[in-house]
Amino acid sequence: MAPIDLETIWQKARSELACAGDANTLDAWRLAYLGRQGAVTQVLRLLGDLPVEERRTVGARANDLKRELERALAERAEELERLAIAEIESVALDVTLPGRKGPVGRLHPISQTMRDILSSLTEMGFQVAEGPEVEWEYYNFEALRIPEHHPARDSQDTFWLDFRKDGKRNMLLRTQTSPMQIRFMETHQPPIRVAVPGRVYRYEATDATHEWMITQVELLAVDEGINFRHMKGCLTQLAQSLFGRDRSVRFRCDYFPFVEPGAEVAIECGLCHGAGCRSCGNEGYLEIAGAGMVHREILENVGYDADRYTGFAAGFGVERIAMLRYGIDDIRHFYGNDLRFLRKF
Ligand code: PHE
Repeated sequence: MAPIDLETIWQKARSELACAGDANTLDAWRLAYLGRQGAVTQVLRLLGDLPVEERRTVGARANDLKRELERALAERAEELERLAIAEIESVALDVTLPGRKGPVGRLHPISQTMRDILSSLTEMGFQVAEGPEVEWEYYNFEALRIPEHHPARDSQDTFWLDFRKDGKRNMLLRTQTSPMQIRFMETHQPPIRVAVPGRVYRYEATDATHEWMITQVELLAVDEGINFRHMKGCLTQLAQSLFGRDRSVRFRCDYFPFVEPGAEVAIECGLCHGAGCRSCGNEGYLEIAGAGMVHREILENVGYDADRYTGFAAGFGVERIAMLRYGIDDIRHFYGNDLRFLRKF
């Protein structure tokens, strides 16, 4: 075995080791040079055939080579480990970074407006109650003094249910939240302060200001000594909490069969401040609610002593309020499910 062979083994082993990039290749390399069949082991095994003189020098060199290779292997293994750690560190999560935000939902503008209305009312001492959207004709009309051929029924074109009782179709999708006035008085005694949020339905051709489903909030207060000023104060407080203290609130005579006297509630136009402009139809004011003192007959019909108790009621249109607050020009936007619109709130 010539010394040059050991030199060749050394060179070859070094260059192969430099190229070994993973644990498997390192292991194969170790077997090829240092394993039981490995190149260095073979040399050592052949030593016995050499003359004594040569055996000593070649033996010493071969053992040196073996140690060198073992050291080189350990170094390379260490180096690979360092590289692997560096790579992990370069792509690893920085746990101190703020997290990525996922898409977060938001409240529909009608829900937001509804919450504002109800929080203002609960601050004033109103409790919140809900009623059925499928209602008896009796509660929606008759008990509210709107008998069968009353013209007030015409203005509330109705979705009737196919269901029949006594041969008559007497169930419907409520056209107003007012039936809950009756239901609530039937089951409660004064003093009453109740707000009723909910959906109402009218068989209506839709356009920029009409939808077949809208949202209302009904108000009812019944107690000893309740008068028109309580109503004005309460509704003014609510309207100004929604639109601002600088907007005046106007009450004008209006007719609803279940109140007497009845009123229309309007808020001063935010653009012209009462002077009249295009946005308020030259009115200076925009209607947001119907209201009035609960009709004496209604108090009597639910069994109240109408000489002792009086009350006021009001019904707010939530879409209308939201349109005025946010400057929305078409009611159909609310239920069009267009995210470009909904994301603005
Ligand atoms: N229910 C009436 C409507 O929908 C509004 C109203 C409620 C008027 C309460 C007076 C009192 O038009």
